[in-house]
Amino acid sequence: MKILVTGGAGFIGSNFILYWMRNYPSDKIINLDKLTYAGNLENLKSVKDNPNYFFIHGDILNLNDVNKAMEGIDVVVHFAAESHVDRSIKRPADFIMANIVGTQILLDAAVKNKIKRFHHVSTDEVYGSLNLEDKNKFNERTNYNPRSPYSASKAGSDHLVRAYFATYDLPITITNCSNNYGQYQFPEKMIPLAITNVLEGKKIPVYGDGFYVRDWLYVEDHCRAIDAVLKKGKVGETYCIGGSTEDINNLTVAKKILSFLKKDDSFIEFVKDRPGHDRKYAVDWSKIKNELGWNPLHKFDDWLEKTIFWYKNNEEWWRRVKTGEYQKYYKEQYGEE
Ligand code: NAD
Ligand code: TYD
Repeated sequence: MKILVTGGAGFIGSNFILYWMRNYPSDKIINLDKLTYAGNLENLKSVKDNPNYFFIHGDILNLNDVNKAMEGIDVVVHFAAESHVDRSIKRPADFIMANIVGTQILLDAAVKNKIKRFHHVSTDEVYGSLNLEDKNKFNERTNYNPRSPYSASKAGSDHLVRAYFATYDLPITITNCSNNYGQYQFPEKMIPLAITNVLEGKKIPVYGDGFYVRDWLYVEDHCRAIDAVLKKGKVGETYCIGGSTEDINNLTVAKKILSFLKKDDSFIEFVKDRPGHDRKYAVDWSKIKNELGWNPLHKFDDWLEKTIFWYKNNEEWWRRVKTGEYQKYYKEQYGEE
């Protein structure tokens, strides 16, 4: 099988490529990535000389790049996106272009090339925000109610993917997954930002009151879920993916990180809240469990600790990433560096 992975140099895309090549070594992987600030080929150095791995430095917004990448492809797994909510608040247009227009360009090429499966990787954030006391969780029937430019652009892309199924018979599947954590995550997101800040002797910026809840999932569990959907999922269907069985708020996450790193709570700094900050996400993943036999295998506390070790042992990786553009971003976002 020949798989086109878009955004394969990013956090989840690179973990997916490594996962896939480990489990299905005879498949061919084409990685189409623009290498934005979030793309990093270092993540893939262990496979770069593998004859079944090919990298195309290109943009999903560029028809020539997309047509070249799509040649002879059986399956597309579409990760490429602008992915950070805070950046979407500052530059929404970048998100509309990459996430909506970019997806449409890929979909057109997929129809033209008679792709056997177009799998779209999306987020639980399209469903909006729950209240802290809510016992309800998001599921495949929850109404869309995106509240940030990021989630609105992902919602738009989800609708387009379904429209191409209905209109052009493109064989699609969609997964809407909760917050991932793990190795190679860019340190703009909460967990790697917190870990690397503490390793640098800096504080963890906690937005607002810190009582915001995310449904954390270890990245390999997300890759396993996409694998299950590609192998056993029903064309045209959406599957929700999540991990946590109990609510874990950001303050608790920050305290867990500090405790693993043997630091006290004075390393927590409450900072100005994010505008429109979604209070809580929680995902009901019973459909993918019942229909495809998937469930998360990695427990949060254990794999948060392993993730912290990974960042401790891969200081060169994140120190390089935290230079240049990152410093400018950090200063704009948090007012200092
Ligand atoms: P990321 O920001 O780490 O990586 C995105 C990758 O896409 C980068 O390698 C970047 O260079 C590439 N890219 C961006 N624009 C491109 C373009 N125009 N053409 C080609 N490549 C481009 O993101 P991530 O956290 O790995 O997320 C991957 C996907 O998973 C996204 O679609 C995101 O919405 C979705 N998702 C992420 C999470 C999460 O917790 N991170 C959860 C659910 C779903
Ligand atoms: P993030 O990793 O940006 O993911 P998302 O916004 O897509 O859920 O943020 C996770 C949670 O952590 C979210 O509630 C916002 C919060 N947060 C902070 O408190 N401080 C920070 O510096 C960042 C980046 C996030």
